[in-house]
Amino acid sequence: MKKVIARSPVNIALIKYWGKANELLVLPTTTSVSLTLTDLWTETTFEEGSFSFELNHKAADEQETKRVKDVLKHFRDDQVVIKSNNNFPTASGLASSASGFAALTVGLNKFYDANYTLQELATLTRVGSGSSCRSLVDGFAIWHRNGTLESIANPFQNLMMIVVLISEDKKAISSREAMKITMKTAPTYATWTQTSEQDFQQIRTAIIDKQFDRLGQIMEMNSERLHQVMKDSTPSIVYQQQSSLDVLKLVKHARQQGLVGYTTMDAGPNVKILIHQDQLADWQQLLKTNIQYRFLVSRIGGKADAQ
Ligand code: DP6
Repeated sequence: MKKVIARSPVNIALIKYWGKANELLVLPTTTSVSLTLTDLWTETTFEEGSFSFELNHKAADEQETKRVKDVLKHFRDDQVVIKSNNNFPTASGLASSASGFAALTVGLNKFYDANYTLQELATLTRVGSGSSCRSLVDGFAIWHRNGTLESIANPFQNLMMIVVLISEDKKAISSREAMKITMKTAPTYATWTQTSEQDFQQIRTAIIDKQFDRLGQIMEMNSERLHQVMKDSTPSIVYQQQSSLDVLKLVKHARQQGLVGYTTMDAGPNVKILIHQDQLADWQQLLKTNIQYRFLVSRIGGKADAQ
């Protein structure tokens, strides 16, 4: 019997996507840039049978199933049993939907021998979850406003990301809903999109010039600006908890002591720190002595693939 296994890494944006210029086609209002996390992934299996979709060993709810069916309708039929598992906590601001949809789309492409091109796969998967298209490529993934996916080879050796798990609970408001509210109500939204576009241009230069500190500073500023525009919404959207702010402060302080690392946050309270592998032990030591939270460590790189 035919069986396909797909695996996709999570991706974390350095320049964030927060809003759709076209909801139907899922075209973003800004260009976003991300890296994939090799060691945090979704694995999805596909077998012949009447349609069912299981997520983390449980039948998926109606909403999750609908989003999967929206992608599935672009393939030959729906005679497929899909089982998807993450190796990290779901819905904790860790972009499980991104790796989930990337694995789904790439897996279905293989299961049905559909031969969609990369650009076509990006178009399909982003309807499931916008940011998922960035897991289809290795290196720095760039998702342009017109929908085009680009990638720049990562010139930095041995980067790693630490994910500090402030909370493993499901988020209070989904990014999909929250970004709609921000677009509609934040008076600073237009400024945010303009500044974000400048951040994109500058980070691109930092990547090409191989300037890690510059890249980290832009990444950190872009995340701070995102959380500010979220707060400027009505009702105010606040994903950062006091503990998140404490970790941000700890990282800034560590930099003054000579460690190299930069933070970013998404639609949840967890804090991600981009570091160099040769300082991993120092960072682990610092976190263990100063905070009570669990953290995950991942290498950088990889992309969605199916066998
Ligand atoms: C804060 O891709 O989850 O992680 O397209 O509505 O499914 P939908 O949203 P989603 O949003 C991700 C938002 C973010 C920033 C980012 O990854 O760029």
